Amino acid sequence: MKQAFWLLISWLLISCDGSKFQNAATQNLSRADKLHYEQYMIQGQQLYNTHCSNCHQADGTGLGQLIPPLAQADYLLNDQSQTFCIIKYGLNDKITVNGIEYEQPMPANEKLTNIEIAQIATYVYNSWGHESGFIPVKRVSQEIDKCQ
Ligand code: HEC
Repeated sequence: MKQAFWLLISWLLISCDGSKFQNAATQNLSRADKLHYEQYMIQGQQLYNTHCSNCHQADGTGLGQLIPPLAQADYLLNDQSQTFCIIKYGLNDKITVNGIEYEQPMPANEKLTNIEIAQIATYVYNSWGHESGFIPVKRVSQEIDKCQ
């Protein structure tokens, strides 16, 4: 009986990975990728706080008519590759996000490396209710050269 109890506890610990970051999209990652994902989330949050949250806010809700939201934003959820490009090269366009038009320019972050972009993207796509899963640096490297 005692043994069964401990087996159950270990199973619970292993299956939850003891992590607050796991979601439906990351459940089936390999153990190694789960660890990478966790690291990306931690680094990504720090980078987000340094480079993005002044404008888009820590909770991703943006600022009224000036700064578009990232949380539950149709524009963001529609296209990940485009988000990599916006993070690196900024944006100066008239865009519609969740039915509201924005046209203030967003500055570029050309010094960010591909891995930093992947970490920020992983954080943004798995926070505020988003569950888009791990975005490895390999994907950013494949896509970032195609930015226009
Ligand atoms: C100085 C303020 C500012 C900072 C800092 C900033 N943004 Fe933006 N961001 C904007 C504005 C303004 C727009 C709308 C640009 C336009 O209309 O051309 C925008 C647009 C976006 C969009 C597309 C629209 C949407 O809501 O999905 C994404 C994605 C985005 N930003 C992500 C980020 C990320 C990630 C960072 C940090 C690396 C960041 N931004 C840093 C102001 C900022």
